[in-house]
Amino acid sequence: MTRALLLAVALAACVLPAAAGASTVAEVKKKGVLVLGTDPTFAPFEFKDRSGQITGFDIDIARAVAKDLGVRLQVQAVGFGALMPQSVTSGRVDMAMSGITITAERARVVSFSAPYYRSAQVFIVRGGNPGKFEWPGNVKGKTIGVQANTTGQFVADELLKPKGAALKVYDDFAAGLADVRAGRIAALVGDAPTVTDLQKRLPGQFQQAGKNLAAENYGMVFAKNSDLAAAANRTLVRLKASGEYQKLLDKWIMQQ
Ligand code: ARG
Repeated sequence: MTRALLLAVALAACVLPAAAGASTVAEVKKKGVLVLGTDPTFAPFEFKDRSGQITGFDIDIARAVAKDLGVRLQVQAVGFGALMPQSVTSGRVDMAMSGITITAERARVVSFSAPYYRSAQVFIVRGGNPGKFEWPGNVKGKTIGVQANTTGQFVADELLKPKGAALKVYDDFAAGLADVRAGRIAALVGDAPTVTDLQKRLPGQFQQAGKNLAAENYGMVFAKNSDLAAAANRTLVRLKASGEYQKLLDKWIMQQ
């Protein structure tokens, strides 16, 4: 073989596994399992119950997608930093759901389902808001937490940094919440439904402060151009038409 040919063969060998990594409906059906990647620190969308099982609104939706494909669902915990987008683009998981916001930037590397939940970025502060933190207003000189690689971090970089806020980046959302509770940071940027959930589970400890920073929509995430996205959309349509979607919202106590 010529050197050029050898190089071409070597390159093809490198490229093939990546292409095979992109999950498709046919592959999922063949293996009989749909692997969902999720960062289970985000109640009520995904969290570990008392027995350590990963559960939540997103998990129930993913289970319905698996059911419609005639396969079982396998849930894998992945930290958010690795989840978006590497876990999906590498084929480590077939899909990701983790209260993941649809953005144009992310849509360049992954495929999103249709939006399935309307959300917003908000400030989470200590119950009673002792520091009288608010937005828009007094962010200057304050330390504000964000979870790495989330839209909360993106919006804080864009809106809060220029106003003189100091950002503290957490890999784990729960660690940020612990710092809010301990008064180590003024606020944490997070998703609105998580605040509602916190208020229910830990009354008086957390609250939202000021106005919403940004409105957004959650989507299911698949490898770029995977036909699994269309399959997921069909499941969403079915769940909405049958009233099951509403039942799931009620089950996890959420408005939409
Ligand atoms: N909606 C935000 C985003 O897509 C935050 C999601 C964080 N999810 C989680 N399970 N920690 O970036």
